Amino acid sequence: MVHYQEPRVGIYDGTEVVVGKVFVSAIERYFVLSCISLLVLIFMPDPFQLTRREIVDVPLEQLVQQGGTPLFVYDGAMIIQRIKDLAAFDVVRYAQKACSNLAILDLCRRQGAVVDAVSAGEILRAEAAGFVAQGTQHPIVYTADIFDIPALDLVVEKGIHVNCGSPEMITQFGERVPGQPITLRINPGFGHGHSQKTNTGGEQSKHGIWHEDLADCLIRAERYQLPVTGLHMHIGSGTDLEHLAEVCGAMQRAATLVGDSVATISAGGGLPTPYKTGDVYVDLDAYFELWDAVRKRLEETVGHSVVLEIEPGRYLTAEAGYLITEIRAVKRMGENIFYLVDAGFNDLARPILYGAYHPMSICRRDGCTDPATREVVVGGPLCESGDIFTQTEGGYVCTRELPEAGVGDFLVIECAGAYGSVMGSNYNSKPLAAELLIQDGQVHTIRERQTFEQMISTERIPLSDELP
Ligand code: LLP
Repeated sequence: MVHYQEPRVGIYDGTEVVVGKVFVSAIERYFVLSCISLLVLIFMPDPFQLTRREIVDVPLEQLVQQGGTPLFVYDGAMIIQRIKDLAAFDVVRYAQKACSNLAILDLCRRQGAVVDAVSAGEILRAEAAGFVAQGTQHPIVYTADIFDIPALDLVVEKGIHVNCGSPEMITQFGERVPGQPITLRINPGFGHGHSQKTNTGGEQSKHGIWHEDLADCLIRAERYQLPVTGLHMHIGSGTDLEHLAEVCGAMQRAATLVGDSVATISAGGGLPTPYKTGDVYVDLDAYFELWDAVRKRLEETVGHSVVLEIEPGRYLTAEAGYLITEIRAVKRMGENIFYLVDAGFNDLARPILYGAYHPMSICRRDGCTDPATREVVVGGPLCESGDIFTQTEGGYVCTRELPEAGVGDFLVIECAGAYGSVMGSNYNSKPLAAELLIQDGQVHTIRERQTFEQMISTERIPLSDELP
């Protein structure tokens, strides 16, 4: 499968490593995999079923009895498997923003993953889930484009490793703790995501240090004796192998500029997961090979070993999560039939934000598993027209073919484990949903539904003595 041909310098940032032998083999693998996927598509049953009665062998009714609706349910074994899939990388650093429930963080920690934090809150969360502030491979890394004051105070106080996404971060950190090693997040000048809103590279992105400013930033770091021990690039979320592969070349160039002090390179996150019939996984072996080649080339240049990190969020948790809702009304609006469920964009914002598609299934209370289907629009309870789960980017309402169902039946929004509960809000004074984790046959409540009292607990009425 491997071609021993000369590197074709000039494509993909002109870096030999990317376009040489290994890349050719990766492209071939990609091509073969695409063909296999096509065949699988044609002959295999759809992985997304329109009806379901259980999640990981636990009846839906039982889950709802325990947590009510709307309810997030996670399959622990799936998360563990996804971490194992990435074992070729030296470090799996979970981007906890995807799903930061303490139990999920704890589960990742027990599987040997370390964690990325983007705020003081995420640092404290990681600690609450058992990650220590300092240690080999930096158990917690703060990656951001700014330090707000609480975050700066916290990283200094606890000695958390920082990955700087702006020149100002270097200065502000250096002024507080000169001499500390740092890593730099580089914007390589291009990016890609499943939506323009999740593209984190290029001139329209606020993220990272612009690649052409790296040399200046090294001088800036030098001013405070901050050794630059690593580089990090994350070009977007929900991208594809082609775009991810481009980063390798940019990394090679940036790391060569930094030189001997580079001990870690991070490929960032961005691995896509299937949300629709026909979506495919990235060929992880090919992806690893690309990065491993960069790492090895770099090791030759710097004369010591270089650690290769990956920073997935979605890949670890998306498929493991389900949002169970109950249908509360079935309305006709002219030609359209609406299933109105008790979860809204306060529970799952991805459809309204990005027009994101989530597979859906129905669990009928009468036990029927083979009902006729019909085209429906699925909406939530919020007092806003955009509260629709079947919409495309730009807010265009569309329909979905789903089984016939009525009031009291459950509608499960699938692949909701990444950027689901974490992006929940109290809009319309809706409480944050409960969360359950299924692991080793046990169903654990890992977040209680928020109570009304908790929701208003931080609010104050100035003239409260005048209340009746
Ligand atoms: N590393 C960095 C620096 C990031 O900014 C992100 C995601 C990740 C890693 C993890 O990316 P992932 O592997 O999950 O693609 N709310 C959006 C996604 C926003 C991603 C933000 N950053 C969504 O629901 O699709």
